Amino acid sequence: GIKIVTIGGGSSYTPELVEGFIKRYHELPVRELWLVDIEAGKEKLDIVGNLAKRMIEKAGLPIEVHLTLDRRAALKDADFVTTQFRVGLLDARAKDERIPLSHGVLGQETNGPGGLFKGLRTIPVILDIIKDIQELCPDAWLINFTNPAGMVTEAVLRYTSHRKVVGLCNVPIGIEMGVAKLLEVDHSRVRVDFAGLNHMVYGLDVYVDGISVKDKVIELLTNPENSSFVKNIEGQGWEPEFIRALNVLTCPYHMYYYKSDEMLEKELKNFKEGTTRAEVVKKLEDELFELYKDPNLDIKPPQLEKRGGAYYSDAAVRLISSIYNDKRDIQPVNTINNGAIASIPHDSAVEISCVITKEGPKPLAIGDLPVAVRGLVQQIKSFERVAAEAAVTGNYDTALLAMTINPLVPSDKVGKAILDEMLEAHKEHLPKF
Ligand code: NAD
Ligand code: G6P
Ligand code: MN
Repeated sequence: GIKIVTIGGGSSYTPELVEGFIKRYHELPVRELWLVDIEAGKEKLDIVGNLAKRMIEKAGLPIEVHLTLDRRAALKDADFVTTQFRVGLLDARAKDERIPLSHGVLGQETNGPGGLFKGLRTIPVILDIIKDIQELCPDAWLINFTNPAGMVTEAVLRYTSHRKVVGLCNVPIGIEMGVAKLLEVDHSRVRVDFAGLNHMVYGLDVYVDGISVKDKVIELLTNPENSSFVKNIEGQGWEPEFIRALNVLTCPYHMYYYKSDEMLEKELKNFKEGTTRAEVVKKLEDELFELYKDPNLDIKPPQLEKRGGAYYSDAAVRLISSIYNDKRDIQPVNTINNGAIASIPHDSAVEISCVITKEGPKPLAIGDLPVAVRGLVQQIKSFERVAAEAAVTGNYDTALLAMTINPLVPSDKVGKAILDEMLEAHKEHLPKF
């Protein structure tokens, strides 16, 4: 039977994942699910782990659920390892959001200085996990959901020899589902050709039953109600002339780059009112865990859909199933570029539509990105590479370089002020700089 290990098992997303394994049990016979967490997450792990057990019992499936703080014991002979952890929990996220905003710079979980620091905290942990994997389950696939997923995948590709790694984000599947809903067709009929980077991905074309509907979808993106496909970012709509000229589908995170002022203004307003996304999520999470505690609850509660990561389980479990079953279907994931996008280094991670095989994702080569988007994608890739280097080396100058070349940071001086404050604020979770 299949052994799955989920690191960060105390996450409120775990019931989604469990629901996914239950729904696909007929094609993906999981025997053991090990949920791993750390001391700080023990209470969450217990609550969510017991809900997982009730869900599986209700489904009548022979999946054993193990809850543990011993990562190495869990990893022994695993087939798939999924990661969904948050170093420093939501308090660290609040700092990632608030410190940049206090300097008048966008504060966001995966973008700008916040994304840099989430990477600096996360990458050393991921590299440790890879060491354990190489020793205890060298043939296991690592499916990484931990943000910043693109930068984390980049770090694994460039600083380890483990090649069985896939980075996963719910944004592409969210776009496909969202487009299907707008067009009032079933999701299975919609296909988007994705290419770019994590949270910097474009839809180069979109089809219903093989016929391009790109022009129609682009018009729909001018409506604020249709322009975001995730719950954590509010849509603002695109200027019709701009989006027509861009002529590709955007992802919600593009708003931070093409609507920087408007997005910053909104975030600053939330900041002044004391509620950046971390506080909103804290409240949501408290509500969810109250529900999870109920011994009569044995399904994933619908309230989980208020989180930005909706459809994560679908994305994760269909990916694992397609690797396991060598399905060769097409899914957008983060994987090694290998020339699929000409203007991105061969050895770098890209988010792109891939054929999913037993040997892993095979990217569908696109030639190159349209010239209007190519430069921004390259700049973000440079940021991710320099940031990953800073996380691995602990070099201060490299961290400042990453900070300053990020398009959302206005100058080296402001970057340095933010860097110094964040290094101090996060020091218990960071390598030595
Ligand atoms: P969370 O705050 O609930 O954290 C999940 C768990 O990780 C906690 O129980 C915590 O104790 C545990 N943890 C922290 N450090 C750990 C370590 N070193 N080893 C093992 N466990 C550890 O987080 P969440 O809101 O559920 O999100 C989890 C992760 O998933 C975050 O990194 C988040 O950014 C990411 N995420 C990614 C996407 C995506 O599109 N890829 C979408 C949503 C969330
Ligand atoms: C999004 C993304 C994630 C992001 C998350 C935030 O859709 O794909 O990478 O971090 O949702 O959601 P949250 O509910 O935690 O703000
Ligand atoms: Mn994401």
